[in-house]
Amino acid sequence: MAVARIAVVAGDGIGTEVVAEGRKVLDAVLPGVEATEYDLGAARYNRTGEVLPDSVLDELAQHDAILLGAVGDPSVPPGVLERGLLLKLRFDFDQYVNLRPSRLWPGTAGPLAGVKPGEVDLVVVREGTEGLYAGAGGVLHRGTPAEIATEESLNTRHGVERVIRDAFERAGRRERRRVTLVHKTNVLTHAGGLWARTFAEVAAEYPDITTEYQHVDAASMFLVTQPQRYDVIVTDNLFGDILTDIAAAVTGGIGLAASGCINPERRYPSMFEPVHGSAPDIAGKGVADPVAAVLSVSLLLDHLGHPEQARRVSEAVAAELAGRKPGQSLRTAEVGDRLAELS
Ligand code: NAI
Ligand code: MG
Repeated sequence: MAVARIAVVAGDGIGTEVVAEGRKVLDAVLPGVEATEYDLGAARYNRTGEVLPDSVLDELAQHDAILLGAVGDPSVPPGVLERGLLLKLRFDFDQYVNLRPSRLWPGTAGPLAGVKPGEVDLVVVREGTEGLYAGAGGVLHRGTPAEIATEESLNTRHGVERVIRDAFERAGRRERRRVTLVHKTNVLTHAGGLWARTFAEVAAEYPDITTEYQHVDAASMFLVTQPQRYDVIVTDNLFGDILTDIAAAVTGGIGLAASGCINPERRYPSMFEPVHGSAPDIAGKGVADPVAAVLSVSLLLDHLGHPEQARRVSEAVAAELAGRKPGQSLRTAEVGDRLAELS
């Protein structure tokens, strides 16, 4: 029997290049994984008009986890793959914890003069199934001067409470044991009130965890001026999307940023993917950094109950990054080979 059944959606552009390296590392560190490839993304859409057929969704549901590269291409209208594939998987598989860790790895340099390598180690727990991304809204009188567009943020007590609980549980397993709630409660008083009240109630159950609250604009500033101050940040879908790009930017860039879309109850497969997209500008050149995909494999291993293997992969990444020289060019497959070897 396979140790794990993984569905692989390599996708488009550099997605296919970095996922190949992620799989090298996965096979090296956990032999016996059964990986099944699924052809989804811009290429399939352009060929057949299909985004995510129900039959494929049913098959994906039979796996322990999904490893995704990236989907998207300038030839596909905006939203088709984002809503029809990525968001559909997150929603249908109830992946309500969107986990996005950021570290300024020892031996690497970020863009911030005052921040030393090793000092930043934070994780954003972004709500993944509600908020402004729920698709509640519509357009009337499209293309006329009378056009009206609405986009509503949906926040349920159930949805907010479960992601806040997850953040506290994670903080309890970390050294600093600190959770920061980020929202905009002073202006978005309806949703913000629900988040703030729920946060306070859950916090009362975790007396050994330090808590704080920040408005999203202040948090955006502090992520740039003082990213060291954060441990676990919990926030809604849109704020989390934006804050994690800032966090990635101050810790060595998008080529290193990994993520997990997690269904903690394991009723559905969780999905692990680099934060970056298909990068049409460098696709096919073999120069994409596979580290984000490989770190996503580390998150996958951790989720599937292989913490020792997960640690070996992240230590291999640490060694790889410590050996890089500023401005040095890299080859995707060579980095993957080294990481598979080191893991
Ligand atoms: P992108 O993340 O693909 O690229 C942004 C910039 O970062 C580009 O200059 C690219 O060359 C560079 N970059 C990204 N990953 C890199 C890596 N591993 N190594 C070195 N450089 C890297 O974002 P962009 O250009 O906005 O989107 C391109 C396509 O990807 C679009 O179709 C977009 O919709 C899609 N996309 C898909 C995502 C997903 O599948 N989860 C996430 C983000 C974008
Ligand atoms: Mg984003």
